[in-house]
Amino acid sequence: MYSKQELSQGLTTRIVGNKIFVFETIDSTNACARTLGDIDTPEGAVVFADFQTNGRGRLGRMWISEPESNLLFSVLLRPAVKAEMAGLLTLYASAAVARAIEHCVGESVECKWPNDLLLHGKKFCGILLENSFQPSGLGYAIVGVGINVNQRTLPAEITGKATSLARETGKEYDRKQVLQAVLTEMDALYESAGKGDFSRVVSEWTKRCLMFGKGVKVQQHDHTIEGTALRLNNDGGLIISSSGGELAVYAGDVTLVS
Ligand code: BTN
Repeated sequence: MYSKQELSQGLTTRIVGNKIFVFETIDSTNACARTLGDIDTPEGAVVFADFQTNGRGRLGRMWISEPESNLLFSVLLRPAVKAEMAGLLTLYASAAVARAIEHCVGESVECKWPNDLLLHGKKFCGILLENSFQPSGLGYAIVGVGINVNQRTLPAEITGKATSLARETGKEYDRKQVLQAVLTEMDALYESAGKGDFSRVVSEWTKRCLMFGKGVKVQQHDHTIEGTALRLNNDGGLIISSSGGELAVYAGDVTLVS
């Protein structure tokens, strides 16, 4: 297990990772980071765990990860962002993780709306953004990141769609190096995103998104939308052109249709 000194050693970030909390086992790093947010911990704090007993995924799903193989962490942020723009923070984290992983692996990473990162077309990273809103706007945001790094065996029901860096490249990665690369990219991109300027985030994210101009299906809880993915709107929603005209979607599972 890593110590917080080891994870911080050599890290030269300004905000992201200014304090690192390390757990061998925790219920969820996002839950812990929310507690830190509620007790006024300064932004930039990172909660890192080797194993989660109740790892949370998007849409109420679980995030399951083998002990000591992958990266499971959450970052507490207090960006100066209007509440209605908070969804862009998922794209901010995706763009930063994509840049870091490309650097570590030497291959292109794909961003899939809203929160997935893919290598060779399969998901190796998911991001779970949890926001705390105050009457005055966004109080804090928790950016939870799960990256499958060295795990070789995945549950049979997801091997068609999910993967790890090691499975795709045949190499093992130093998890500390990968974590530090991600925190460094998050810190760099936060310089503008933390002030509500998402222009760089949107351009970094968009150039890695392969679904624009293609037919997609968005599965929402009780219905499905089909159309062509056109672009992002100003607050990070996905604009789809469907038979009823253009509409923006903010949640759901997107798949390409041929
Ligand atoms: C998804 O793809 O559904 C999002 C998965 C996010 C998982 C990470 S692991 C670290 C952090 N803590 C959690 O409980 N979830 C996020």
